[in-house]
Order: sequence, then C-alpha cells, then structure tokens
Amino acid sequence: MRGDLATGDGRLELHGSQIVIGAGVLDSCGAELRTALPNRRFAIISDDIVAPIYAARVAAACAPASVTLFTIPAGEASKTREQWARLTDELLSAGFGRDSAIIALGGGVIGDLAGFVAATYMRGVPFVQMPTSLLAMIDASIGGKTGVDTSAGKNLVGAFHHPALVIVDPRALSTLPLVHLRNGLAEAIKHGVIASAAEFEWIAANVRGLLREGGPDAALAERLVRTNIEIKADVVARDERESGVRKTLNFGHTIGHAVESLSGYTMLHGECIAVGMVVEARIAAKLGEADAALAGAIVQLLRAASLPFAVPDSMTASAVIDATRSDKKARAGSVEYALPAKLGAMAGADRGYAIPVPDSVIVEAIGETRASL
Ligand SMILES: NC(=O)c1ccc[n+]([C@@H]2O[C@H](COP(=O)([O-])OP(=O)(O)OC[C@H]3O[C@@H](n4cnc5c(N)ncnc54)[C@H](O)[C@@H]3O)[C@@H](O)[C@H]2O)c1
Ligand SMILES: [Zn+2]
Repeated sequence: MRGDLATGDGRLELHGSQIVIGAGVLDSCGAELRTALPNRRFAIISDDIVAPIYAARVAAACAPASVTLFTIPAGEASKTREQWARLTDELLSAGFGRDSAIIALGGGVIGDLAGFVAATYMRGVPFVQMPTSLLAMIDASIGGKTGVDTSAGKNLVGAFHHPALVIVDPRALSTLPLVHLRNGLAEAIKHGVIASAAEFEWIAANVRGLLREGGPDAALAERLVRTNIEIKADVVARDERESGVRKTLNFGHTIGHAVESLSGYTMLHGECIAVGMVVEARIAAKLGEADAALAGAIVQLLRAASLPFAVPDSMTASAVIDATRSDKKARAGSVEYALPAKLGAMAGADRGYAIPVPDSVIVEAIGETRASL
C-alpha cells in the first residue's frame, strides 16, 4: 500500500519506492531498473570520487538502456544552485527529454542535488537513489527530501521528490573512508536512541567491527544498513512531511546544526549531531523527560566510536543558542526540541515531539558536556 512500509519478501517499499538492499546489487540492478523504469534513457549523476569507482559498473547494469554520466566535484561545496543549473543545462544540451530518468550515484550530496535536478527537470522526472556512503544509505536516500544549500544556510531550497527505486549495496562501504563511516554511524546511533534500544546495543557491541578501514565485513554491513533503513523508513512512512513523528529524527540536530554552522562546516555532520545528542539528552534529563543515565550511555558509545561528545570550547553557549534560532526548523524564533525519554523511545508524543526549552537549561547542558571531558 502506498505510504506504507511493506516487508513481506525482505524488500521494503516506501511511498511507492522499492528499496532494494543487498551485497552486489549495484552490479545486478538491471532487472530492477527495467521493471521500475522501462524504456528510459538514464543520466547518472555522480561525483569525481565515486564515479571512477562505481559509474562504469552501474552503466553496465543499465545496458542495453542508453546511459550518460555527469560528474561534479565531490563535497558539500557542490550542493548548490550553480551545480543544479550546470547539470540541468548539460541535460538539456544532451537532449534529455521527459523519457529520461536520473540515477543519483554517491553520498548524500549527490542524492540531494541529483534528486533536486530530477524534481525540477521538465517539471519532474523519475529518479533512482544509489547511495554509496553510510549516511546516504541509512538516512539521506530515504524519505524523499531533495535540495541544495544557499549562502543563507543548508538545504534551504529544495523539494520533496520520492525516488522510484533505492538501490543499496552495503559492499560500497568497503571503499568509503573511515571518517565517513564514522560520520554515518552517528546517524545509526541516533536511530537507536529514538527508536530501538536493541539497535543501540548492537552498535555498541560491534563498534570495532563496524568502524574498520575497508568497511565492516559483509554480514555486519548488511545488518547495519538494513536495520537502519527499516528504522528511518518506518518513521517516514508514519509521517511523510514532518508534522509529527518524523520530528523525532531531528534528535541531536537542533544543537548539532548550530555546532555545524559555528564550525564553518569544518566539522562533519555526524560529528556535530554526536555532540548535539549529548547536549539534548542532558536537556531531556534536566526537564525531567529522561533519566540522567541516558546521556552517559550515549557518551560511552560515542567515545568507543571516536566521535566527539562535547561542544568545542571555541563555541560559547550563547553563540550556540543564537545559531539554533537561525536554523530553518525554528518557527518565529522559538526553538523546539525533539527529546528522548529513554533508549529507543522519544518524549513528547502528546506535544508533537516538539518541546520548548528555556535558554538557561541549554546553557547548563552545554556546560556539563564540557565538564565530562
Ligand atoms: N535528504 C535527506 O533527508 C538528508 C538526510 C541526511 C543528510 N543529507 C545530506 O547528505 C549530505 C551528506 O552526505 P554524505 O555524508 O554522504 O556526504 P558526501 O556525499 O559528501 O560523501 C562523503 C564523501 O564520501 C565520498 N564517498 C561516498 N561514497 C563513497 C564510496 N562508496 N567510496 C569512496 N568514497 C565515497 C564522497 O565522494 C565524499 O567525498 C549533506 O549535504 C546532508 O545535508 C540529506
Ligand atoms: Zn543528520
């Protein structure tokens, strides 16, 4: 059923998108592509790190369909309207029409940018997410949000556009640099806190094997990716446009986005939300929403994963609070938090998972993260 999450034959479906997960599917997705998108001309959009490793393999899987590769420089700095304009111009001059489909092959930057190209090209053409970073596999490729950054902030111009197909090959993690594995693991830890104590504990028990140069072994990689996609897809299926339960995915992100922006985007997103989770778990304890032990459990796992857990000394509490007010999720200057109740459960179901927090509580919570160093 549309909008529901079906798990009958080991496959997932979200808002009409088939999510296909399996070792080797990047090479063997031809049948899936032909079924979901028959008679299409494909444009693969990728970056200059991922394309040399994977684009030829994906193009071979698309055969005999016509495939053209478009490559942009890797990194967040490419998630812009300028790259969107360049790509749409190139598609136009290559004669791509309404019979085309876009394949987003890469990390979250590519998924968001190529998804936005697909959402807008000829008023919208279908697209396929082929996420290759852990963060993109378990987070960015699931849920239909696409967009670009502007000088006023991240993700401020975009559209909801659901992929026709999501192809997730956990083997791609074998080439992902360790720093980006760790970055994605922060979102998996978040999924554990908001929805599954079992997942949190599984990550804690396997953190070494998960964070290995060369990627986790096949069984761990598939288990990590599948469970986390199920968690994210389940939350999104219950609330596509973030009016309720989808807000729980913002746990760690109110403070995390503020830290990310104050770092001038030198800290990775996962590192920032790691810090954000600790501050927000402490806020939850101060407001009586969560037990104090929760923040301790999160810190312990972040330490084991070599992720940060304190707001950097260079950032004052008032600067962090000011930065939360300019986040796009702040409504009319009042900032609401998605706070945890305990491992695997969020507080505030009766308040739309949006809990206002006095500044004094935030200042104390930030101070405590530093004291725990
Ligand atoms: N749409 C959403 O719901 C959503 C959710 C979360 C994050 N995001 C967005 O995702 C972006 C971050 O995604 P990211 O962390 O994947 O960043 P990214 O796309 O920049 O990828 C990180 C780096 O890893 C490289 N890489 C990716 N896969 C690789 C592989 N298999 N082997 C070798 N190198 C590989 C990339 O070239 C890049 O250098 C941000 O722009 C964020 O806003 C979107
Ligand atoms: Zn995030």
